Amino acid sequence: MIVGLGVVGIAAAGAALAAAWRSEIAPVPPPAPASFDPALVRRGADLALIGDCRTCHTAPNGAAFAGGLPLPTPFGTLYSTNITPDPETGIGRWSQAAFARALRDGVDREGRHLYPAFPYDHYSATTDDDVRALYAFFMSRPAVSAPPPPNELPFPLTIRLTLAGWKLLFLRPKNLAPDPAKDEVWHRGRYLVEGLGHCGACHSPRNLLGAEITSRAYQGGEAEGWRAYALGAASRSPVPWDEAALMQYLRDGFHPLHGVARGPMAPVVENLAEVPREEVAAMARYLASLGAGPRGEAAATPSLVPASAPGQAPQAAGAQAAIPAAGTDLYAAACTACHEGGRPPPFGGISLALSTAISDESPRNLVNLILEGLPVRGGTAQPIMPGFGAVLTDAQVASLAADLRRRFGGGLPWPDLDSAIREARAARRLAARPAAAMTR
Ligand code: HEC
Ligand code: HEC
Ligand code: HEC
Repeated sequence: MIVGLGVVGIAAAGAALAAAWRSEIAPVPPPAPASFDPALVRRGADLALIGDCRTCHTAPNGAAFAGGLPLPTPFGTLYSTNITPDPETGIGRWSQAAFARALRDGVDREGRHLYPAFPYDHYSATTDDDVRALYAFFMSRPAVSAPPPPNELPFPLTIRLTLAGWKLLFLRPKNLAPDPAKDEVWHRGRYLVEGLGHCGACHSPRNLLGAEITSRAYQGGEAEGWRAYALGAASRSPVPWDEAALMQYLRDGFHPLHGVARGPMAPVVENLAEVPREEVAAMARYLASLGAGPRGEAAATPSLVPASAPGQAPQAAGAQAAIPAAGTDLYAAACTACHEGGRPPPFGGISLALSTAISDESPRNLVNLILEGLPVRGGTAQPIMPGFGAVLTDAQVASLAADLRRRFGGGLPWPDLDSAIREARAARRLAARPAAAMTR
C-alpha cells in the first residue's frame, strides 16, 4: 500500500517535472514582412484588437507593441514585453510555433513559463488559423528596440518554475464543444468572448492564487482598482442588458440606458470599435445568452426620471437613519445639472438610477468617478465629468455616495464604503502614471 502510494507520488512528481520543463524552440531568421499575405495581416490586425494586445503591450507615449506598460497585480508589478519583430529585444527570432506556444501555453521561445497576467488561459482557445493571422500581423509591424523593464515581484514568485505548479492547478483547455441548440453566430461569439476577448479576465472573480474561479464565471471581478461588474445572469444593472444594448455598448462605448464605458473597460470598447461589426454582434449574442439581471435586492427600479427632486431624498424603507443631509445637498449642487439635465449620453450624464455604479455590490466605481471624474482621453470629442477629489473630504464623499445609494440603489447601504474611499484615494496619490495609463 505504502509502496503503491510512493510509486504514485514519484509518478506525480515526474509528471509535474515533465510539465514544468519546456525546451527551447530554435531561433529563426526574422521573416520578411512582405512574405505575409496582406489579407492575412489584416485579419490578424482585427484579432489583435479583439485580444487587446496593443492595450497591454504599449507603454504610455511608447511605440505600439514595444511593451513596458506596468501591470499592477496583487502580487507585484509586471511589465509587458516587446512583441515587435525586433530580433534582440522583441520576438523577431520567434518561429510561428514559438509564438503559438506563448499564446496558448504561456511559455516563451526559450522555454520559460510566462506569468498569467498575460491572459493565455483565454488565448489557449485560439485556433491555428487565427494564430497564423496574428503571427503574420505581428511579424509585419515595425521593429522597435526596447528592452522591457524587469518585473517587481517578491521571492519566490521571481522563480518562473513556480508557474508550472500554477498551470498544473489552473490551466485547463476551454470547453468549447459545439452546442447543437445554438447558431453559428453564437458559436463565433463564444469563441471570441471566452478566447481572444478574455472578458472573464476582468469580469470573473479570482482565487487567492490569482486564478479565475471558473464555477463563478462572469460573477464580477476586479481590474486595476475598478470593479468589473457581473455580466449575464448575475448582472446588477438596473436595466437588464439585451443583445442590442450589448452590441451598442461594446461597439460605441455607451448606451442611453447604461452610460459610458470607463476605466479599464474604455480601451476594450475603443478596440472593438475598429473590428468588423459581425464580430462584435457575435459577442453580443453570446453574452446575451448568459442571461440578464437584475439580480439581488439592490437593483433599483429603472426610471429615466428620478422619483425625487434634488434636495429631497426619498425615504427608502429601512434606510432613513444616519445619512447626513450633506450628501443630499452635495448631489443637488454638484451633480444634478449634468445627471438630471436631460442631455443624452455620451456627452450628458445618465440618470444615476440607471447606473450599475450605484446598484452594484461594490461602491468602488462610484467612488473612483466622484474622485477622478472622466478625464479627457485622446483628441476626439469625449464625455467629460469633473473630478471632485480635490474639493470634497472623505466624509463628504461618503455622505454623497451613501445618499446616492439610498436614493437610487434600492436601500441597502454599502458596508465597505469608507475603505473603498481610502483605497481609491491611495491609488490616486500613488498613481505616478498619466491618466491614459491608469485606464490602460
Ligand atoms: C492583460 C495584459 C496583456 C494582454 C491583453 C496581452 N498581453 Fe502579451 N503579455 C503580457 C505580459 C505581462 C507579458 C509578460 C509575461 C511575463 O513576463 O511572464 C506578456 C507576454 C507576451 C508574449 C511573450 C513575449 C516574450 O518576449 O516573452 C507574447 C508573444 C505576447 N505577450 C503576445 C500577446 C498577444 C499576441 C496579445 C494579444 C492577442 C497579448 N500578448 C495580449 C500582458 C498582456
Ligand atoms: C459637467 C457634467 C457632469 C457633472 C457636474 C457630473 N457628472 Fe457624472 N457624468 C457626466 C458624464 C458626461 C458622464 C458619462 C455618461 C454616463 O455614463 O452617465 C458621467 C458619468 C457618471 C457616472 C457613471 C454612470 C454610468 O453608470 O454610466 C456616475 C456614477 C456619475 N457620473 C456620478 C456623478 C456624481 C456623483 C456627480 C456629482 C458629484 C457627477 N457625476 C457630476 C457628467 C457630469
Ligand atoms: C481590463 C479589464 C476588462 C476587460 C478585459 C473587459 N472588461 Fe468589461 N468592464 C470592465 C470594467 C472595469 C467595467 C466597469 C467600468 C464601467 O462601468 O465602464 C466593465 C464594464 C462592462 C460592461 C457594463 C456592465 C454594466 O452593468 O454596466 C459590459 C457589458 C462589459 N464590461 C462587457 C465586457 C466584454 C464583453 C468584454 C470582453 C470583450 C469585457 N467587458 C472585457 C473591465 C473589463
